[in-house]
Amino acid sequence: MTKTDTLKELAALASLKYVKSGYKVGLGTGSTVKFALEGLANNLKNGTLKNIEGIATSSATEKIATEHGIPLITFSRVTTLDVYIDGADEVDSSFDMIKGGGGALIREKIVAQNSGLRVIIVDESKLSDKIGERWAVPLEVFPMAAAVEAEYLKTLNAVSQLRLDASGDPYITDNGNYILDTNFGEIPDANKLSKLLDSRAGIAGHGIFHNLADVIIVASEVGVSEIRFGEIHKFDSLFKALKYMRSN
Ligand code: 5RP
Repeated sequence: MTKTDTLKELAALASLKYVKSGYKVGLGTGSTVKFALEGLANNLKNGTLKNIEGIATSSATEKIATEHGIPLITFSRVTTLDVYIDGADEVDSSFDMIKGGGGALIREKIVAQNSGLRVIIVDESKLSDKIGERWAVPLEVFPMAAAVEAEYLKTLNAVSQLRLDASGDPYITDNGNYILDTNFGEIPDANKLSKLLDSRAGIAGHGIFHNLADVIIVASEVGVSEIRFGEIHKFDSLFKALKYMRSN
């Protein structure tokens, strides 16, 4: 296992304490969440956790959860979830996030907006001073609108790239759409950009997550830190500690 994988696993396992017996759980997508799914499955098997039901945010997560025996439901059964556990591509101290590296951004946002407690699990490589600094924002676009939205994005001085799959064809999301990975550079006002993108009919959804995290668990060289929304000082201290370690 790589060092990053070890950190991802540590963050994922630290999130499991937020899942109690009887809970309905939003199951995110990605390599960090995979460790959380394995942990949940273990807790179900050894009896420390009972009667949980999950809603998967992607077909990939649905497959892993099913293989591990985690019972799944859909929003036809419940309309709110107790807790949602997911990774992120980039996070900053305002708790703004870029998500959608795994292409599941719309379902992830639906689950995040309908969950009581949103727990985000990341390794230290995901931290930025401001989102957009290092990661493009995935925009899920209706295929017929991909070209016109790419033109529109140029007017915002953003550079977009159509996501391709392994065979070089357009990557198709679980919702049948394309993804434009769009570099805006550092995003000073995530809420403003989020609303602007929401106003475009051709954009089915985007990976800017604003006000959708309650707890961020960061596994890093200095240990596992849990930061609640608003605890900017904790975020800043962690940031300083990591920058110091990297420069020495
Ligand atoms: C999927 C996501 C993931 O949470 C994000 O891409 C992080 O993935 P990983 O845990 O593999 O680094 O938003 O759409």
